[in-house]
Amino acid sequence: MQRVILLPLLVLLAGCGAGEAPRGSLPAGQDRPLLLLVTPGSVVDVDAVAHVSGKAAGADSTITLSPGSHGLAVAGRRVTGTFAGVGAVRVSVASRDSDGVLKTIQFNIVAPAPEPGRPVLPDRPFTYDDLQLDLPPSYRESRQSGAPYWDTTPETNPVSDAGATLGRVLFYDKRLSSTNTHSCGTCHQQKHGFAEPRSFSVGATGEPTRRNAMGLANVRYSLRDRFFADARVRTLESLALIPIQDHVEMANTLPNMVAKLQATDFYPPLFQAAFGSAQISADRVGMALAQFLRSLISYRAKADTAYPEGGDSRFPEATPGFTAQENEGLKLLIDGNCLHCHVDRVLTMVDPANTGLDVESVDPGQGDGTFRAASLRNIRHTAPYMHDGRFQSLREVIDHYDTGVKPAQSLSPLLRVRNGDAPRRLNLTERQKRALEAALDTFTDSAMLEDPKFSDPFH
Ligand code: HEC
Ligand code: HEC
Repeated sequence: MQRVILLPLLVLLAGCGAGEAPRGSLPAGQDRPLLLLVTPGSVVDVDAVAHVSGKAAGADSTITLSPGSHGLAVAGRRVTGTFAGVGAVRVSVASRDSDGVLKTIQFNIVAPAPEPGRPVLPDRPFTYDDLQLDLPPSYRESRQSGAPYWDTTPETNPVSDAGATLGRVLFYDKRLSSTNTHSCGTCHQQKHGFAEPRSFSVGATGEPTRRNAMGLANVRYSLRDRFFADARVRTLESLALIPIQDHVEMANTLPNMVAKLQATDFYPPLFQAAFGSAQISADRVGMALAQFLRSLISYRAKADTAYPEGGDSRFPEATPGFTAQENEGLKLLIDGNCLHCHVDRVLTMVDPANTGLDVESVDPGQGDGTFRAASLRNIRHTAPYMHDGRFQSLREVIDHYDTGVKPAQSLSPLLRVRNGDAPRRLNLTERQKRALEAALDTFTDSAMLEDPKFSDPFH
């Protein structure tokens, strides 16, 4: 058998002075996920164990490649072979040091696809600045005073037309992934309410995500500034950098992303327009993405036009602009406590709750099976539903609330007969279920789902 010899190649170290590091090695001593970039068809020969920090003896190491090998194989403490095709291989190393302490690291070996082209942008920017939009009064109040919907816009990063324009380009730019195959818009698709029509998405490494991609309408409104299904993140600025570095989702490092953006001719002027200087940094990427996320406001659905706001932001039990069926459904949304958790009009979540999907939840969420839902705006288009995408249709969700709620220990009191008691049963008729669906459909915001200012500028 022919031994593969390390050729002078193409191994580029992200986050490290280009060309300075010895071939086939990674920068040591970093706690961030590491990245080794190669070109498709190049020969790889890496000492994987050398990168486990501490007194790793390496005598007792386990190296695994996932989800596939792309032609690479483990030989002792090295990963070697000819990288087949475009994609990413995750190398997981578990190694015992001389004191017997187990250390683990992971890094990706990535052969990127060609970079995407340039975005096409309008001569005059679209309007994203919410002060220029015709928003309902309660939305506006939320920007000024927090109540009633808890706008999370910080004073340091208000949405501007230039900032959200940059955010839109970043949101749809596959350069943000190490492989050039995934943008935010891959999993958050405009026509599907910025969710993806599958239970779990497939990330840059080809592996499934742990949870269902959430819809993004009205994501700026969040009580106690909490995001993700387990409410683990506090700001959209910091959230936006998480998928970029996630091992499965975009499998990139921030230095590699910044270097790629700097190498284009169109990003410096976009940063200049957004922030007053052409400097490109990860923080600014987070800020621009947060501005675009906060521009995804839903306020143009039938429910908004049928019941324009007066003094009260709450929906009444009946509105003249609705059909009889929609009004029946609206009343059921109110009587069924739905709007206690999915709050009026913006339909975002107040506090995470356990909805009795399982007696014992496999995924703990925020703890004890409590989860945060995205806004129910555009809900017809964001299937499948729940944190694990277990329900394929709205009818299945309604059937769950009707008769399927399980007696989980921390089941919300709102879904029990009385506080502390058994799960509540709504015992809806077929007609009532249809009415509920019709009422939920009045929150489909077609104007938003088709608005060119939210569309992919790379197409
Ligand atoms: C590979 C698929 C994938 C990609 C790519 C991806 N996301 Fe997500 N996104 C998800 C999943 C899955 C969740 C739910 C995660 C969780 O709750 O733990 C999510 C959740 C979110 C949320 C939380 C919404 C809420 O209401 O709490 C935001 C915001 C978000 N993503 C923005 C982005 C941005 C910005 C990017 C690009 C930088 C991005 N996503 C890239 C799959 C993806
Ligand atoms: C106790 C609070 C609470 C009540 C009451 C409640 N929900 Fe929910 N709802 C949630 C939570 C929490 C989730 C997310 C659960 C998950 O992801 O596992 C959710 C999820 C949903 C979803 C799926 C959202 C998505 O994007 O996947 C729909 C649709 C929904 N609820 C509709 C309703 C309707 C209709 C009612 C009234 C019959 C209702 N809810 C009552 C808390 C509640």
